[in-house]
Amino acid sequence: MLVSFKIQKFNPEVDAKPYYRDYEIELPERATVLESIIAIKEEIDGTLSFRCSCRSAICGSCAMRINRCAKLACKARVADEVNRHGSILIEPLQKLKVIKDLVVDMDPFWRMIEKVKPYLMPDPNEAAPERERLVDPSTTEDVIRNSLCILCACCHTDCNVAELEPGFVGPAALAKGQRYVADTRDGATDERLKSLSEPHGLWECARCFACTQVCPKGVDPRESIRRIGHLAYERGIRSDEGIKHAQAFLDSVKASGRLNEATLPLKTKGLGVVGMTPMALQMFLKGKVPFPIQRPVPDMEEIRKIFELTEKQR
Ligand code: FES
Repeated sequence: MLVSFKIQKFNPEVDAKPYYRDYEIELPERATVLESIIAIKEEIDGTLSFRCSCRSAICGSCAMRINRCAKLACKARVADEVNRHGSILIEPLQKLKVIKDLVVDMDPFWRMIEKVKPYLMPDPNEAAPERERLVDPSTTEDVIRNSLCILCACCHTDCNVAELEPGFVGPAALAKGQRYVADTRDGATDERLKSLSEPHGLWECARCFACTQVCPKGVDPRESIRRIGHLAYERGIRSDEGIKHAQAFLDSVKASGRLNEATLPLKTKGLGVVGMTPMALQMFLKGKVPFPIQRPVPDMEEIRKIFELTEKQR
């Protein structure tokens, strides 16, 4: 099978900016993208730079953007990409500085992972057991699911929030954080929840599920973020604006079946809403400030039933 590739190249020592180079190469039907770029490097362009190691979707080092989506090159099949897109576009992971071609500086990603203290912190007041501390079977699902993460940074670099807010700790770090929050051998649950609930933490997630969609290992970071948020709420850790916003949203729907957009900013930001006065004035002048008192929807009984049902399912 003859396949066309367009690959982003950039050597900061000689190039003013990144550029694309086209390649065409004959490949076996079942070739992976990684096998293809290895063949390109061996047969056409010896300068092409990329990372790889295990070639088995285990080490996470071959992550790159393939047809505009972060993927593991050793897992992505050329035939699948060609069937879907006609050709193959390869670029480095987004948001990370390019060192050369498809090799990026992973340090900013590691710093986010370090922020969540990715190691067990037993309760110092608890006597050490005679033997090992066992994982409680009830938490096995969380521990195993999040332990599948191979730290490839696909979710982090394709995260839509991190695109707008570089300080956002990101889905990989939050999933890692949840692995330790859920682990009953850990003694710092509240400390972790408080830290994960700080600005740039879990409440910054926009729930777009992009992380879950791109994760090549089925970790489902969005579900991990949801679980931390749920536990933080249950334990009364509710200082961040994100959780206040969620609470105000919930209260409004519970009270009237509608979202009260007039009171939402006040309940979310408290006195901080004063800073929004100029914007509120502009909205008022354009007739876009909704009336703060709303009539309940006619079928409030249905709303009440939904709330009752979800209460039972918790
Ligand atoms: S080379 Fe190890 S994950 Fe692809």
